[in-house]
Amino acid sequence: MLKIVIFASGRGSNLQAILNAINSSNKKVVISGVVSNNKDCGAFEIARNNNISAYLVSDSRQEGFFTYDELSRIFVKENIDLIVLAGFLKKIPDDFVEFYENKIINIHPALLPSFGGKGMYGIKVHQAVLNSSAMVSGATVHFVNKVYDDGLIIAQESVDIANCVSADEIAERVLKIEHKLLPRVIDWFADGKISINKNRVRIAN
Ligand code: GRF
Repeated sequence: MLKIVIFASGRGSNLQAILNAINSSNKKVVISGVVSNNKDCGAFEIARNNNISAYLVSDSRQEGFFTYDELSRIFVKENIDLIVLAGFLKKIPDDFVEFYENKIINIHPALLPSFGGKGMYGIKVHQAVLNSSAMVSGATVHFVNKVYDDGLIIAQESVDIANCVSADEIAERVLKIEHKLLPRVIDWFADGKISINKNRVRIAN
């Protein structure tokens, strides 16, 4: 059983896609918690509706918020195997990244290494893709390291955007890809198919 925690700051559609995939598969993945910096986020609503523990996190001590160190202790006790960032807009502290080396993944709504890095999130990503005249976009799932969107790429899937005329259109097409790609990668972790060899990620068949 792969025990995962989802970090999200927004509506949580990727969280819902993971839940849908878990509910339609043979239950080899369980979401043990949802973490957010935003107490009013849609992801917490989804957590409540699915009886999943919700944790408010802050990198400074705040009433009603967990620190990253406190979360680490909880995750160790609960034997969490994988941390999934799905629209989490805050940078993960370096010591947390170190502690969970190669156990934190992120989904980015573009084909990294293009259109990534600090400040590249949400509609800004798709606007940059549109402005670039690119004919394809897509989604990337990658390991998280100490630099925004810089960790080893695990999986990518592209989508044709040749006839898109707005960033919203691109966002809509990419989100559909995300909702397939992230659950697929989580499944690969559950099946122990992912390894790293000479700076490249390999997926066993
Ligand atoms: C997704 O587009 C994801 O790629 C990006 O943030 C968005 C999260 O959307 N990192 P949701 O909250 O999962 O709907």
